[in-house]
Amino acid sequence: MSNINFSHKYKDKIVVLDFGGQYSHLIVRRCRELGVYTELLPYDTQIDEFKRGIEREEGCGKIKGIIFSGSPFSVHESSSPHCDSAILDLNVPILGICYGAQLIAYMKGGIVGEGRKAEFGRAELFFKRDSELFDWSGSSGENENDTASKSKNKSKSKSKSIDVWMSHGDVIERLDGADIIGYTRNSLIAAFRIRTSNIFGVQFHPEVQHTEKGDKILWNFLYTICGCERNWTVESFVKEKIEEIKREVGSDGRVVCGLSGGIDSSTTALLINKAIADRLTCIFIDTGLLRRGEKESVIKTFEENFKMKLVFVDAKERFLAGLQGVEDAEAKRRVIGRLFIELFESETKKLGKVDFLAQGTIYPDRIESAGAGSMKTALIKSHHNVGALPEQLGLTLIEPLKDLYKDEVRKVAKELGMPSKILNQHPFPGPGLAARVIGEVTDDKLRICRGASHIVEDELKSSGWYDKVWQAFAVVGDDVATGVLGDARSVGRIVTVRVVGSNDAMTADFVKLPYTVLESISKRITNEVKGVTWVTYAISSKPPSTIEPC
Ligand code: XMP
Repeated sequence: MSNINFSHKYKDKIVVLDFGGQYSHLIVRRCRELGVYTELLPYDTQIDEFKRGIEREEGCGKIKGIIFSGSPFSVHESSSPHCDSAILDLNVPILGICYGAQLIAYMKGGIVGEGRKAEFGRAELFFKRDSELFDWSGSSGENENDTASKSKNKSKSKSKSIDVWMSHGDVIERLDGADIIGYTRNSLIAAFRIRTSNIFGVQFHPEVQHTEKGDKILWNFLYTICGCERNWTVESFVKEKIEEIKREVGSDGRVVCGLSGGIDSSTTALLINKAIADRLTCIFIDTGLLRRGEKESVIKTFEENFKMKLVFVDAKERFLAGLQGVEDAEAKRRVIGRLFIELFESETKKLGKVDFLAQGTIYPDRIESAGAGSMKTALIKSHHNVGALPEQLGLTLIEPLKDLYKDEVRKVAKELGMPSKILNQHPFPGPGLAARVIGEVTDDKLRICRGASHIVEDELKSSGWYDKVWQAFAVVGDDVATGVLGDARSVGRIVTVRVVGSNDAMTADFVKLPYTVLESISKRITNEVKGVTWVTYAISSKPPSTIEPC
């Protein structure tokens, strides 16, 4: 099966080869933010796939450039990821970043050695000669009409150095046939260009915010060196997707969509509704695992505001019964997934003729679930929205958001007129509150989790923190602790508050909330949620933790 996605047949693209670096996704996102459609591919993608992509006509999915990502490995380790060295002979511009630069040097016969001192953090990069990569003149991609031609003939920068972000142990010691274009105190070949080619390497990370002019360096690669057109904007995505859905579904096709109330399924439904109007039916299942007020908000938004066809199923009892006695996190996910599929199946059958199933799968779901498109990421949690549903129902799958990151989904939703309540709400996992109830899911633990989570969100909103964090919620398990209520000692549940910051949920940090905010949250939870005696704050990041506890 081909790794390269040719679904955007009209989109020329940049490919990021993933050698397992922590910033691989960030490189993709930065390039997209700069206006060029970019995909992440595994480092061992076959050379023929690249050839096919490069040989395409301009404007028809042509690969215009390749970026090699970083990696935690050294090129000398036997298990280190190496790509086919023939990629360097494809006559397509290449930019190696960190390990990617070392790999290019290694494949070109250079010497990569252990550095005298590992370089982590800020370093000063000095320029050795003029290079298109370090040309600060012209645009940085803000302008809709920026193309390569516009940035030509501009004067080169006069600055002698910039601050860059380094994270490496090995260094390139020798590279014959290359021009050194930048160096630092510890890396004498910190940026190079293979002579008479468009192959560049930089030891630092232009994709991280700490690198001064990092965006401009990537812009120069995309527009000046690769000659990309600006082809990735929210407006163009929405317009083209609606046309694509119309073509795919045809003039009489019918689509069913599972609506959860989250941003992904809501945006999927809205996009499809714009394309085929009432030939879309949404099924909204109340699993009893929803947040406070969520059911009402979904019904109001989609049925009343957008006038969409909505089937509402109250399945609270069924889910709670199915989860009785199930303690293991993955087992809970399997039960929820199975029940969801069963209900969805029976409701869909009631609709008569249906041809397509729409799902709000997004790019990180695909990558976390299957390792598709990247290093073969280990399956961490099964995300039940990527299931066997379509085959079982004999329906064709439509996933209009499958190439988008979360922040891109939000931009699309805004463009489609999504109300801010849904637009700005935090991501919510498919298994709902069951992902936040440790051990068996019971009515009482759900009540505590829902009530306490509502307080966490409420306090963050009133203190101005809600929009600054990625997710914020409460977790409850079976642990109890002693408290005093009035004069009496009482035993109650421990609630853990989890508030994380993230860009894409692949990594996350716990948020250093002010003590005053934590104090109000704690006070309100112990006062307002019956049966809670202790409130704790989760202070571990992802990795090693995940965002959700189960
Ligand atoms: P973890 O807990 O794996 O979560 O760090 C990463 C992001 O994914 C969400 N999440 C899920 N989303 N189905 C989903 O659709 C799931 O089963 C699921 N589990 C976790 C989680 O809320 C976070 O944003």
